[in-house]
Amino acid sequence: HIFGAARMNSAGTNLNIQAQRDPFIAEVNSFNQKQWHATGLINGKPVSGDAKPVFNPANTEEKVGSVVRVTKAQAEEALSIAYRAQEGWNATPAERRAAILDKIADLFEQHKYELIAICGREAGKTLQDGIDEVREAVDFCRYYAERARLEFAKPLALPGPTGERNELFLDGRGVFACIAPWNFPLAIFTGQVVAALVAGNSVLAKPANQTCLIAHRAVELMLQAGVPGEVLHFLPGSGAELSPVLTEDPRIAGVAFTGSTETAWTINRSLASRRAQIAALIAETGGQNAMIVDSSALPEQVVADVIRSAFVSAGQRCSALRVLYLQEEIAERVIEVLRGAMAELVLGNPLDHKTDIGPVIDAAAKKDLETHIQNMRATKKLLAEGKLPADANKGHFLAPIAFEIDNINDLKQENFGPVAHIIRYKSDDLDKVIDSINAYGYGLTIGIHTRNEATADYIAKRARVGNVYINRNQVGAVVGVQPFGGQGLSGTGPKAGGPHYLHRFATERTVSNNI
Ligand code: NAD
Ligand code: ALA
Repeated sequence: HIFGAARMNSAGTNLNIQAQRDPFIAEVNSFNQKQWHATGLINGKPVSGDAKPVFNPANTEEKVGSVVRVTKAQAEEALSIAYRAQEGWNATPAERRAAILDKIADLFEQHKYELIAICGREAGKTLQDGIDEVREAVDFCRYYAERARLEFAKPLALPGPTGERNELFLDGRGVFACIAPWNFPLAIFTGQVVAALVAGNSVLAKPANQTCLIAHRAVELMLQAGVPGEVLHFLPGSGAELSPVLTEDPRIAGVAFTGSTETAWTINRSLASRRAQIAALIAETGGQNAMIVDSSALPEQVVADVIRSAFVSAGQRCSALRVLYLQEEIAERVIEVLRGAMAELVLGNPLDHKTDIGPVIDAAAKKDLETHIQNMRATKKLLAEGKLPADANKGHFLAPIAFEIDNINDLKQENFGPVAHIIRYKSDDLDKVIDSINAYGYGLTIGIHTRNEATADYIAKRARVGNVYINRNQVGAVVGVQPFGGQGLSGTGPKAGGPHYLHRFATERTVSNNI
């Protein structure tokens, strides 16, 4: 538990303790047969249309539910309603908006078993990932509620000559389009939406196509908590089809986007091409994240952190480790321990508590990763490989794998899955290593393993990344503790779960009153 002045981060469940685990699993399992039906929600009401089936990525014959997406015309209707409603929502006291976020957090906790079950059956999230997902979503709600009370409830009083009152107000910008990825389908989706709402914006919330069921359930709970239907609209649908509304319409005041760098460029171009208000773009994108391990590091600790950073969550984290630099004196030992550890990893049904790693999200993701793995097999040295489950063909499973490469530039793109690339380096070449990581252009996370504090400080200062992790894994940033977000190709620099995040969603207004 992390204690703040008035707030505590949400509690988890320890799956290693049987007395906690058994009742927890029984609750999650009670949703094993459930079918969820998601629809677009405009002004609080479901849209009608063709329902598309949703299947479990761990078992592609298992239907999990269905989704009715919105059309472009319906999204336009939502935008018109959201545009009209924003002024009133911005005038709603920040305390009232914050109280709604606290209520959303309570409802998420009350429904956590169902939310974890959907994360498992729709997105292939393991029980542990599901627990973390709900906790992060809850923490975003309570943290941003706390920040809004501190910063939005009252104007900041500023100095002035006698008789003049100077005040700085924070207001919502207008209508925000919140565009989410599938890999944190509850936490990131919720974080974007509640940050925009509590800052006084109305919201068009677009989930990733792969994860509409969980996002729909989240929005239902947000509406139940008191978010007005005219202020929050749920728009499942194709990004390309909805982009004229979400990123080209002059009424859009800002876009909060988390996803690939490629899509961020497209959105940035659309926003910039409008002859309209200059919109705010909050872009949180990909990474080609490195870890540097020097010869003073402890191999067993390094390997535990490599496994967690590179392979858990099937490597489908923007923060995940992709390029492991091992100083040559320690490289063989680390690779040997890593080989053993990878052989022990259990792949399988994500909702089985023995499973370490679930499937990748869909057939397209699996195919892209397989192409990359084939290229690596043909041109690079295979160092270690995990085992597939016996019934791997039921779902989109990929065994964790590690190759030796010569240079980070051997990688042409972010490979969003359980693939690690290892580079040996000489101690004299540390600066070259840091230079090549910086020159590659992403700037999300870096891991450092060393018992030499000066080395850790040196790398931490030189690496141009948003999050530096020393002698630990490099994933799973905690809200209010490790504000998360990158720079360069990894995004425009906002820190989700950090004290300045809400400012990105706000505009500042100075009122000078010569009373
Ligand atoms: P993606 O870019 O394919 O899609 C993200 C979202 O954008 C989806 O909702 C998609 O429908 C939408 N979209 C696609 N084209 C669009 C367009 N033209 N206009 C408007 N919206 C459009 O990314 P993904 O595959 O869903 O997610 C994985 C990516 O997200 C990886 O690159 C990962 O590194 C990144 N990511 C970054 C962070 C972070 O905080 N930095 C967190 C999670 C994921
Ligand atoms: N916030 C997520 C992590 O730190 C992306 O892994």
